[in-house]
Amino acid sequence: MQILDGKKVAQSIKDQLKLNVAQLATEGKKIPHLAAVLVGKNGASETYVAAKTKACEEVGFKSTLILYEEEITENKLLEKVHELNKNPDVDGILVQLPLPGHISAEEVINEIDPDKDVDGFHSISVGKMVQGLPTFIPATPHGIMLMLEYYKIDTKGMHAVIIGRSNIVGRPMSILLSENKNPGNCTVTLCHSKTKNIAEFCRDADIIVAALGKPHFLTADMVKEGAIVIDVGITRLADSTKKSGFRLSGDVDFENVSSKCSYITPVPGGVGPMTIAALLKNTYRACMMNN
Ligand code: GUN
Repeated sequence: MQILDGKKVAQSIKDQLKLNVAQLATEGKKIPHLAAVLVGKNGASETYVAAKTKACEEVGFKSTLILYEEEITENKLLEKVHELNKNPDVDGILVQLPLPGHISAEEVINEIDPDKDVDGFHSISVGKMVQGLPTFIPATPHGIMLMLEYYKIDTKGMHAVIIGRSNIVGRPMSILLSENKNPGNCTVTLCHSKTKNIAEFCRDADIIVAALGKPHFLTADMVKEGAIVIDVGITRLADSTKKSGFRLSGDVDFENVSSKCSYITPVPGGVGPMTIAALLKNTYRACMMNN
């Protein structure tokens, strides 16, 4: 069993980006700039956005964090998006999800200039991804593909089972793993809350991507010997022994599943750091494209 060390792979990507930024600075060219918008008080979202802006700093990107009260109107938020679209200094725009119930995430995301859509959530980006055209790939699936590539895992002909059909992870993952590329060329089964016999699909899988947000959902009896397991879950569970008051739990029962796997990602230190590295890569790409 080999651990897929997301922290290490993400660091190597960040090291390369740092060199690229230094080169841009030497040449007097524009430095990548990410603008992140966060609405309301959601502990997990606050942590993620802080990690994203900190990672920007680490590699020498510029970042701007825009905070709004929960009560902001959709119109005010759209105005901000339009302003960021027009600002030539901003290369990438990210609106952290979820948004409060009175704001339509689809409306807001589809107002982002597709050339600045570093999350890859705009309908144009998604359409291009589905057609296999160059575009921004959502950060978590992109990070997972980069990790498979880094470890030179040949996924050709494998049966990939994805659990969870979100627009952020499961659905784009199903598209990427079925592409005629390596990594890719998988036969994909996309499981969700209405799937009958998820365990049976999982037992047949060569790769399982668990992205449903239920701690320890994937147990050892659902995994065949030698499978590759990618754990996207990061649920906060109350834990009074921790300073923060919580610990992070993946969707995989790592303790009992890991010994059966050829490769497995840990939580934390697996997919999480790769998501951030992929977002940085997208922001760098936006900067290169637009300048
Ligand atoms: N919420 C959970 N994951 C993400 C992400 O990758 N991007 C944004 N914008 N919001 C999220």
